[in-house]
Amino acid sequence: MLKETLIKATETGAAVLKEYFAKDFIISNKEGVNNLVTEVDHKSEQVIFSVIKEQFPDHYILSEESGAFAQDSNYKWIIDPIDGTVNYANGIPICCVSIGIEKDGKMILGAVYNPFIGEFFFAERGKGAVLNGNPIHVSKKADVATSCLVTGFPYTYLDMPNGPLQVFDKLIRAGVPVRRLGSAAIDLCWVACGRFDGFYEHKLQAWDSAAGFLIVEEAGGKVTDLAGKYYNPYQPGIIATNGKIHDELVRVVNGATL
Ligand code: IPD
Ligand code: CA
Ligand code: CA
Repeated sequence: MLKETLIKATETGAAVLKEYFAKDFIISNKEGVNNLVTEVDHKSEQVIFSVIKEQFPDHYILSEESGAFAQDSNYKWIIDPIDGTVNYANGIPICCVSIGIEKDGKMILGAVYNPFIGEFFFAERGKGAVLNGNPIHVSKKADVATSCLVTGFPYTYLDMPNGPLQVFDKLIRAGVPVRRLGSAAIDLCWVACGRFDGFYEHKLQAWDSAAGFLIVEEAGGKVTDLAGKYYNPYQPGIIATNGKIHDELVRVVNGATL
């Protein structure tokens, strides 16, 4: 029932994204400039909550726009009601609903659905990852120089050694294609299905990566923090790859030349 409820919650949220897409809706700013939230983020969140609460009223919920509904439960739902809000607000159809479920602190299920191109990514720990029901796998590329990468940039400039702009600059100067889709959850899923060989980002929140990191791992990829250590979605940095370029990309993100 958990899996069915996750799928239903993700589809129900995504239907709201479709319903309001490119229409008039209220857009407001959170902290920083252009860190947007729309009326639709809240509407998507509310329908997702009602699907979950109908089946599992006792589960813990952590959601981007409403914060935590802490409960004494083994299960925690981690929800991004729209990942790619700036895209959504501009009528760019690269956005999704992303929901991960932890059991006893371990991610066990993840769903990411972009209804605009009809792509539903799903993973269950130990059972592989699928796109629209078909198994997916990471790419086979073996070095960073010939890879196609994706990254994202935080809403506020991160002044740190080997920050987002320095790493980007280095890769671009070396001729490595680095894309920027504007949705970390989709970035991760596109690593999982082999379109990208790797993804890195310096500052994400748990709801951005909760579902996507499990989908990458279940598609045979590797996910770590920026130091190349065990990945925990409650800390900011992430490197997710096909596994083969992982150690090299970790070195590059930490200052190595290409
Ligand atoms: C953002 C997107 C973006 C990433 C940002 C996130 P939001 O999430 O995932 O790709 O670069 O760091 O905050 O605000 O669209 O849910
Ligand atoms: Ca997000
Ligand atoms: Ca969001």
